[in-house]
Amino acid sequence: MEYPTEIKDEAQLEDLLSVPNADLIALMKRLAGDIMILGIGGKMGITLGRQALNAISAAGVDKKVIGVSRFSDAAGRKRLEAWGVETIACDLLDSNEIAKLPHVKNIIYMAGRKFGTNGTEELTWAMNALVPGYVGTHFKNSNIVVFSTGCVYPLVNAQSGGCTEDAAPAPIGEYAQSCLGRERIFSYCSKQFGTEILLFRLNYAIDLRYGVLHDIGQQVFQGKPVNNTVGHFNILWQGDANSQALRCLEYCTSPAASLNITGPEIVRVEYIAEKFAELMGKKIRYTGESADKCYLNDSSKATELFGKPRVSVEQMIKWQAAWFMRGGASLGKPTHFEVNDGKY
Ligand SMILES: NC(=O)c1ccc[n+]([C@@H]2O[C@H](COP(=O)([O-])OP(=O)(O)OC[C@H]3O[C@@H](n4cnc5c(N)ncnc54)[C@H](OP(=O)(O)O)[C@@H]3O)[C@@H](O)[C@H]2O)c1
Repeated sequence: MEYPTEIKDEAQLEDLLSVPNADLIALMKRLAGDIMILGIGGKMGITLGRQALNAISAAGVDKKVIGVSRFSDAAGRKRLEAWGVETIACDLLDSNEIAKLPHVKNIIYMAGRKFGTNGTEELTWAMNALVPGYVGTHFKNSNIVVFSTGCVYPLVNAQSGGCTEDAAPAPIGEYAQSCLGRERIFSYCSKQFGTEILLFRLNYAIDLRYGVLHDIGQQVFQGKPVNNTVGHFNILWQGDANSQALRCLEYCTSPAASLNITGPEIVRVEYIAEKFAELMGKKIRYTGESADKCYLNDSSKATELFGKPRVSVEQMIKWQAAWFMRGGASLGKPTHFEVNDGKY
């Protein structure tokens, strides 16, 4: 598809994040059963649900998309319903509420807790490691794509090319440890019940209202020092991440397998900051010593399965710079990608 040179507002941004590609449309023609998205109410779920609906409609098949969340953001629920996603309000921490959810063949599991972990570690563990036990048991006859994170890996330097799926996990801090807990509990359910599961180890989705490019771009735009503590990272356009998550429904296995999901490039903070400064006509200052070790994933396997992402890093930088210069919206949710001591 032809992408615009600039994205003018949130409506156009959400449209672009929800465009399915031909492979996803083809998948909808052969995928049996409906799709349920658990934790749909967050930053990614809303456009993931809509992309699934758009693919179903383009495929001309009859399939429901059901979104489950507490819906802390009522406006998100309204938008989903207006597009045709059925919604069910549910607190996944309550196993009695999970027991009432309809059994659906295809599950995308996106619920989780990260920020605020420091001081309320028990809630993060309950959300990231106890809820997976409830979900893995209730949906034992489904295929489940489980959103996980690259933070389950050790920190590595850029020359390494990033961790492959074979790297041994070495999570730093309780948030990352609880994410490994989530993976381990789902893997247990997969072995115990034969449930087909894929662990979707994602590194940094990009939506212009939040994300690593948003955070660096905002620092440059506002003349604030750019945090260079973690010097390198990986990113992926959220529309591509959403599409790959849905396509992973076909790659769930028992025992569960993991898949790294991010862009093919290792990106340098200083490169991005310089590009933003050039596009926005700003000067850059840095803060933080650039550490040698960062969270970096090698996504070669995903590229083999899904091809190169549709949106390049250069395109994302241009869109993000123009977004700030037009006064585009921000969710006010920093990624804290500069954290490398595991404390969130
Ligand atoms: N975005 C990224 O770049 C990125 C990178 C790596 C990993 N991930 C992981 O991928 C997943 C999706 O990402 P995201 O950015 O969309 O996360 P998010 O914004 O945190 O969304 C997750 C949503 O899950 C719902 N949820 C949380 N607790 C719940 C509960 N007790 N019952 C029901 N729903 C609950 C929340 O919506 P309600 O308030 O409506 O319940 C929340 O907004 C997350 O697990 C995240 O950690 C994301």
